Amino acid sequence: MTLAPPTSPFIARPELLGADPLAPTGRPVGWGVVATGAIAATVTADLALLPDAVLQAVSSRHAERARAFAEQLGFASWYADDEARSGLDALLADPAVEVVYVATPHAQHAAVVRAALTAGKSVLCEKPVTINAREAQELVDLARERGLFLMEAVWTRFLPAYQRALQIAASGEIGTVHWVAAEVGFPAPLDLTARIWALADGGGALLDLAVYPLLWAWGTLGLPDSVRATGARTPEGVDAQNALTLGWDSGAQAQLTTSLLARSPHTALICGSDGWIRTDGADSVYRPTRLDVQVGDAAVRTEEFPLIGSGYVHELREVTRCLQQGLTESPVMPLEHSLATMRLLDGAREQLGVVYPNDR
Ligand SMILES: NC(=O)c1ccc[n+]([C@@H]2O[C@H](COP(=O)([O-])OP(=O)(O)OC[C@H]3O[C@@H](n4cnc5c(N)ncnc54)[C@H](OP(=O)(O)O)[C@@H]3O)[C@@H](O)[C@H]2O)c1
Repeated sequence: MTLAPPTSPFIARPELLGADPLAPTGRPVGWGVVATGAIAATVTADLALLPDAVLQAVSSRHAERARAFAEQLGFASWYADDEARSGLDALLADPAVEVVYVATPHAQHAAVVRAALTAGKSVLCEKPVTINAREAQELVDLARERGLFLMEAVWTRFLPAYQRALQIAASGEIGTVHWVAAEVGFPAPLDLTARIWALADGGGALLDLAVYPLLWAWGTLGLPDSVRATGARTPEGVDAQNALTLGWDSGAQAQLTTSLLARSPHTALICGSDGWIRTDGADSVYRPTRLDVQVGDAAVRTEEFPLIGSGYVHELREVTRCLQQGLTESPVMPLEHSLATMRLLDGAREQLGVVYPNDR
């Protein structure tokens, strides 16, 4: 498969290591949240910690859900579908909403983001940004055409522990990085109506979870030169688990596994010629709070990074910073990286034989 540039590893951003994501910035930003599901609630609770975030509006398909969410989390307004228009359209017509956080299932991301950009709103969209690279390219083109901010919510990229791991790897302390192993797995209750299993919602382990293990490989080695994917599909055609073997022309390799069947420790391991870095703490492949580092035969060193809120404050602060500075994309999570991710996932899906309605 062919992967477009950039091929270099991510650049560590030392400013994200010491920065206080809760420091006031002096510019209030009006947020609109689309959907009232699990991640919408968790991220909104973190949003409420930011002194400059104004919880302006939430939209839902259902009035009772929108009202309950708004009351519980403290939004100024709520909107829901009615005979005249959708809750989404009403939220997008609210002039006090400057930036929209999209937290619907993946298959709806493209349509919701397109509508938000068309309405002149900046957008933070949950991962994966879309179902496939074609949809992602359409959104990127639209954001660029309109000069509007768009970012995929890959929150782990902004966490201090992740940034520190990049810094250690780039410093040469563990020598040349030769391989990476990262995984995330949990047994998801088999409910074919749940978005995680539903073909129509973009269900399956790959789209939901692979972005996290990929971060550690891409972040330290760059984009791979080859991707081989194997996995198991459900009778409905979504991948229940998969293994990606990434290869680099240098000889480096990575093994990334995501599963909706097996319980796993959720870790990442970066191995170099002189030492290794391992994530530690609960769910550390996406929410690292500790790094264990060993160089040669020296004792293992542990570095700690306490979580602030649920860990989403850093990405939310980045959106605020970008809007303040008039940036239309984040240098930490640029649009080219979302496009490259979707191309990689498209290639892996082709090998797994997973086809979604959005692909047709
Ligand atoms: N960053 C992270 O840590 C993280 C964690 C989990 C999930 N996610 C991502 O966030 C997204 C949502 O995941 P979730 O776990 O929050 O899902 P969820 O609990 O199922 O919630 C999704 C919400 O979207 C709305 N929705 C459902 N079906 C829809 C449809 N057909 N059309 C329009 N809206 C629909 C519903 O809200 P209303 O009923 O109010 O309309 C629903 O509550 C996914 O893309 C996932 O990958 C990210």
